[in-house]
Order: sequence, then C-alpha cells, then structure tokens
Amino acid sequence: MQKKLEKQICTAAKIIKSGGIVAFPTETVYGLGADAFNAKAVEKIFKIKNRPFFDPLIVHICKKEQIKYLYRRVDKRIERLIKKFWPGPLTIVAKKNFKLPDIVTAGLDTVAVRMPANEITLEFIKQCGVPIAAPSANKFGRLSPTTARHVKKQFGKSIDFIIDGGRCSVGLESTIIDLSSKKILVLRSGVITIEDIEKEIGERVNIANNYNKIFPGLLKRHYSPRAKVILFDKSNLKKFDIKNSGFIFFKTSGDFASVVPKDRIEILSTTGDLVEAASNLYYVLHKLDEKGVEKIYFEKIQEIGIGVAIMDRIKKASGNKE
Ligand code: TXA
Ligand code: MG
Repeated sequence: MQKKLEKQICTAAKIIKSGGIVAFPTETVYGLGADAFNAKAVEKIFKIKNRPFFDPLIVHICKKEQIKYLYRRVDKRIERLIKKFWPGPLTIVAKKNFKLPDIVTAGLDTVAVRMPANEITLEFIKQCGVPIAAPSANKFGRLSPTTARHVKKQFGKSIDFIIDGGRCSVGLESTIIDLSSKKILVLRSGVITIEDIEKEIGERVNIANNYNKIFPGLLKRHYSPRAKVILFDKSNLKKFDIKNSGFIFFKTSGDFASVVPKDRIEILSTTGDLVEAASNLYYVLHKLDEKGVEKIYFEKIQEIGIGVAIMDRIKKASGNKE
C-alpha cells in the first residue's frame, strides 16, 4: 500500500478511537463511520447526514471473529453465506448481540453486518480495533458517493476526515439479506443476486416489498441526484428535452448521438456487461448532476440478475413515477 494511504488510515483510525467520524472507501460506496460501540460518536453520523434515528446502520468488520460481538448466534445459513461471500458486498441481518448500542440498530433486535472486500477498508477497521458503524457517506436521500470528491462535495468540512481510496470498484451498495427469521428476505438488491444466494444456501429467498415504511433505504424516493430522472425505452421516446438534459444509455446511444451533445451522453457499458454498468451508475449520475442538467433520461435495462439492482436504484432516484 502507498505510504500516503497508510498515513491517511493511521490518522483516520486515531480519529475513530477518540470518538470522531471518518469517511472511508469500500468496494461498494464510501461510508461515514464511527466506533459501533460508542453511542455518542454514532449519534454524530445521524446528525451530519440528517438521517432519521429510526433508520439503522450497517456495522463493518475486518475479520470473522468480530461477529461474536454483533450477532447473538450464528446459524448454518449465516456460516455458509459468510464463507462464500465475505469479504464482499453482502450485508447479513441477524439477531443482535445485546451489548451493541441501540442507536446503531435504531432499537431493532437485529443488526446488519458486512465485511468489505477492499484492502484499505479492512486495514482501516483493523487499526480502529473495533467494528465500524457506517451508512453511505451522503446526505439522507441523496446519491451515494463513489469517490472521495463526491463525499467532499456533500459534506465539505463538516466531517473530521476522508480517506481517499480512489473510485469504488463495485459502485453500488451491498445486497442486504435478512436471516433473522425463518423466511429469508432480500431487503436490498445488489451485485450479489438472489440467484447467487439461493444457490449457496439451497433455499428459496424472497424479495421484501412491504419493508418500505420501516427501512428508508427502501423508500420510494432515495438515491437521488439533483436532476429529475426520467426512465425511457429507446423505441418509445418520442418527446424529450435536449436543452439542459443528460442521457444515460446501457450499451449504445444509437440515433441519439446525432441530436444530443456528446458531453451529455453517458454509456454504462459498451459491451453490455452488467457488472461494469453497475459500477458506472452512480459515477455517471454524479457527473451529469455536476454539469447542472435539469433532467436525466435513463434507458431502462432488463431486470434480470444485476439488472434488478440497477433498476431498483434508478427507479428510486426517479421517485418511482414510471
Ligand atoms: O454497501 C453498503 O452497504 C454501504 C457501504 C458503506 O457499506 N452502506 C450502506 O449503508 O449502503 P446505508 O446506511 O446507506 O444503507 C443501509 C441500509 C438502510 O436501508 C437500512 O435501513 C438497512 O440497511 N438496515 C440496516 N440495519 C438493518 C436491520 N437491522 N434490519 C433491516 N435493515 C437494516
Ligand atoms: Mg445510503
């Protein structure tokens, strides 16, 4: 690891140990973290983000042994998922250990935990010596950051420190799976798909639809850029504004290339690769937003595999008005 990064991690860990909060990179998006066992520090995160106290945080760990401080017990299904997907973009919700402060879990009797697949994050958590409670490092309801600059743009000097680990590789928040009861539920889709999980545990997994009221990450309008997001199909888009608009296409801009200025066209993956598309999604939304466009037209993609997660986020960004 570069000396400069090592120094940043060291500074960040000191801040965490003294009860401060730090923004840090993960493979998914940047997080805004505090010592999960320091209720006062965790409270600062909610305040700075304008996050309602009823919306629980994810706890991040760097080694498997730490789960004993967080979960009450670990069953076979959890064991299997951990073995297969950690470190990685999978958050597992299970019954919580009573010692974890209630503010982290918004008073719920469950806790969401994940181990990120990013060496900077793992080293940072290791040096902190405690699990790190962290939501995505954005103001409540806004786009998640995938670079340190995105974090700076939203928070300025109001946070103590940002570890700059470059651009996040996955670029989309982790999949959240709830194993706290018999019925297994995916609370948020991600690049680890339902099919991946079903294959591993050999059981049926359901998508939670009625969780919207309880878990705001699943609220209808969320993950929003400033611009208005409009979903479209290439074949149906007859009327559209070119002035002050940006366009996001999946593989190719087709005929639009001749009418829309080049600098307002973004393509998620020229080869049609969904992993690449997911990793570019927030990045291009931030980019168009920074250009000050009023509308962002987004070409719908098929809701299959990782396409489910991409469409979930963009529908929420559009306010689900389609
Ligand atoms: O990829 C990610 O998961 C990123 C990085 C930073 O790790 N984190 C992230 O955190 O997306 P956040 O706070 O933006 O989204 C976490 C979601 C929220 O919708 C929250 O309601 C839900 O997880 N959540 C947290 N604890 C929960 C619990 N015990 N039961 C159900 N949902 C929970
Ligand atoms: Mg978030």
